[in-house]
Amino acid sequence: MSSACYDFLDSAPVIPVIAIENLSHAVPLAEALVAGGIVNLEITLRTEHGLDAIRLINQQVAGAHVGVGTVCNAREFDAAIDAGAQFVVSPGQSDALFERALVTNIPFLPGAVTATEVIAAKEAGFRILKFFPAGTSGGAAAIKAFSGPFGDLQFVPTGGVNIHNANDYLSLPNVRAVGGTWLTPSDAINAERWDHITHIARDASQLDA
Ligand code: 3PG
Repeated sequence: MSSACYDFLDSAPVIPVIAIENLSHAVPLAEALVAGGIVNLEITLRTEHGLDAIRLINQQVAGAHVGVGTVCNAREFDAAIDAGAQFVVSPGQSDALFERALVTNIPFLPGAVTATEVIAAKEAGFRILKFFPAGTSGGAAAIKAFSGPFGDLQFVPTGGVNIHNANDYLSLPNVRAVGGTWLTPSDAINAERWDHITHIARDASQLDA
């Protein structure tokens, strides 16, 4: 059973899922999100800059709680921990990922959308799961249905979540937070419109957790 602490999830209702295309954007983007009250930042390994971005934000952005996303194997898990990631998110799950999370005692959110996947993650010792891709996997109705057989588990839905439907999820007692890419639109990042990102973050931070 994982004894890692997941209290950080209560600091903000939304976790932005971030892909850093240009490393020079990492720090101002993180600063803009934190200024809007969004402090848990999931930096994905979808670009070559993911690990460097985690390092830079950890060193330079006060108040940011930096995690890593799109972790698909043990090698990526270990590299992210070396870079300073404070939590780990995967779109799925594997025995190797479970093992790294338990050995390192880092908070880990494995992905699960079926009852069988939920049981596997629970058996491995995890109680808070990423529900991805939420929108095409039954959405809020599916997570609500999970509260019957899996009343002791909580979910963090991502994939198709946005400012307009986030409360459909956040109003469920078994949803701990939501995640998504809507807080970091690439046109605003490329134009370095950090005030606009802070504005989006502020709206997201005021959603009901
Ligand atoms: C994720 O990994 O959580 C998703 O890519 C987020 O999906 P979204 O772009 O629909 O928010």
